[in-house]
Amino acid sequence: MSTTMTEAEAADRVQVLRRDLDHYNRLYYQEARSAISDQEFDGLMRELGELEQRFPALQSADSPTRRVGGAPLEGFVQVTHAVPMMSLDNTYSEAEVAAFFQRLRKGLGQEEIACVVEPKVDGVAISIRYEDGTLKHAVTRGNGQVGDDVTANVRTIRSLPLRLPPEGPQTFEVRGEIFMSKAGFEKLNEEREDAGEQRFANPRNATAGTLKQLDSRVAARRPLDVVFYGLADAGGQAVSSQTDVYALLQRAGLRRADRVWSAKSAEELLAAIRELDELRKTLPYETDGAVIKVDSFAEQRALGATSKAPRWAIAYKYQAEQAVTRLLATDIQVGRTGALTPVARLEPVFLSGSTVSNATLHNFEEIERKDIRVLDWVIIEKAGEIIPAVIQVVKERRSGEETPIEVPTHCPICGTAVKKDDEQVVLRCPNADCSEQVKRRLEHFVSRGAMDIRGMGEQLAAQLVDAGLVRDPADLYQLDALSLARLERMGTKSIENLLAAIAASKVQPPWRLVFGLGILHVGVTSARALMEFFGSVEAVAAAEVEDLLRCDDVGEIVAASIHAWFREEKNRTLIERLRQAGVNLVQQAVALASTTLEGTTWVLTGALSQPREVFAERIRSHGGKVSSSVSKKTSYVLAGEEAGSKLEKAQKLGVTVLDEAGFEALLRGE
Ligand code: IVH
Repeated sequence: MSTTMTEAEAADRVQVLRRDLDHYNRLYYQEARSAISDQEFDGLMRELGELEQRFPALQSADSPTRRVGGAPLEGFVQVTHAVPMMSLDNTYSEAEVAAFFQRLRKGLGQEEIACVVEPKVDGVAISIRYEDGTLKHAVTRGNGQVGDDVTANVRTIRSLPLRLPPEGPQTFEVRGEIFMSKAGFEKLNEEREDAGEQRFANPRNATAGTLKQLDSRVAARRPLDVVFYGLADAGGQAVSSQTDVYALLQRAGLRRADRVWSAKSAEELLAAIRELDELRKTLPYETDGAVIKVDSFAEQRALGATSKAPRWAIAYKYQAEQAVTRLLATDIQVGRTGALTPVARLEPVFLSGSTVSNATLHNFEEIERKDIRVLDWVIIEKAGEIIPAVIQVVKERRSGEETPIEVPTHCPICGTAVKKDDEQVVLRCPNADCSEQVKRRLEHFVSRGAMDIRGMGEQLAAQLVDAGLVRDPADLYQLDALSLARLERMGTKSIENLLAAIAASKVQPPWRLVFGLGILHVGVTSARALMEFFGSVEAVAAAEVEDLLRCDDVGEIVAASIHAWFREEKNRTLIERLRQAGVNLVQQAVALASTTLEGTTWVLTGALSQPREVFAERIRSHGGKVSSSVSKKTSYVLAGEEAGSKLEKAQKLGVTVLDEAGFEALLRGE
């Protein structure tokens, strides 16, 4: 980007960048194709962001750079739907589907009726309006007549175009379903668990919870996605059937169901429903049924609707994978942050491929809401990969001997009075010295994602705590062979290995330490971002809330949590003891040795005398950047033996190529 660019030149460039980025996004999300590499895409995005920063007049709400969310709202604005959002009648058997088709025949007075069958996506219904090619608003179903304007949250959905391709329709209102993919949901839950937060029960709850957030930056970090299946306003386009709707969606670059079926008899409908039941296991999102619709709009109008649901459509609900068993007892698990989670011990039962003897009860509010009691017969369900959950009690089977599940007033481990968290759902043991919490925190500290101390698992962590050898992570670094020998099953060899692994962890990059400390709401991503931004643990410790907020990926809740953690005396002491033990607290071991390489971008290639990451770290420590592909923006290529295509490309583009000796000379300032 030239620094002498005028605003008019910038405006042209911005327009080109936005058009290209929109195009690549569409290719990626609609056709699962990439025309350029991730780095090139990021490069274009960065260029656009920089231009928008330099020329604020060029900023626009529908720029592809605007996916990060904005300032929190006071509340949601209520919007009346121009066309009400109806629900569907449900059917649960093939006979009911046949009966539905019979009603269609009678209603229309014809034998064959063209229908379509679509997956019923298990998410949250949304109505989205585009005007003149730009996203105007997104409104939830609400009560069907009036919904919430959740545009700020919906705008953060990466697969949803903020601007439409100019060659397609520009003004219309579509209906669809917002969802979280199975994979995205699992990852989100893992991250939440790592950050000491409650898991979401299922993708639909997670989606609904996310759309209700007043702070769209929260939504921006959640893996929301959207698929469309209907039209509320064709905006003057000729659309006379559901099949036409699919074509309109396609032209507008909006995502449709992965697969739809046409059927014109009850048999064909049932065949499609059965096929979908097989296929749906492989779909990226959860589906709970099939939706059957009469294709022609004229026929839909002729059939009409009741006050609640259309007569021209119906949902066939698949049987969820469920089993009935007895709840024998409940246990309470104490997590790292003191959260008490009730777990049901079940009479073992076979359910979709495995024997289940435990199920999550989520929290005590859920237990009360579902009125679950010990010795109840319960329906359990396994959805996708998710741990089985107790769905419902079979109340007809109660004998009278069932006993209510008591809400604990005290921690089952240490006996401290429990507290409700801010959202009044999770119960916590507030005693940070509770031995169960200490064990969980230690397990987290040594885990693979954190300090990665091999050979130390759940059992050893418990032994160390029970023996009084370790109470916090700093104690680990004081362990010696003599004290470890007192533990059961610890031979000389395992002691040696363990001490070596503990010592090796001292030089881990400090984001691993920050993550390993188990600060509430701080997951891997925020830990990395914090270290990138602040450079050292001590700088994070000293930061005020407003400093923390300047770091990307740190929102108000996270900032408040970090700030509070480092204000606690015992945590400050912990950090000091870790420092004294020689644990690395600084981002680069060679902490910004100099700024010699500032403003330069490097590509490493070929066989170097040490691992590439060693050279990469050194480049970064002198202020340079490291990239993986050679372009005109590359300043230097550091090439080792047998360098191949990257070297060729560098030579073609006239990029300076250095060997290791040349690199060292440059660092010395020669
Ligand atoms: S058509 C008047 N098609 O299911 C027709 N709905 O129980 C309205 N849903 O509120 C809906 N996939 O949120 C339709 N392919 C699909 C659907 C679908 C999911 C949801 C939608 C609707 C609810 C009705």
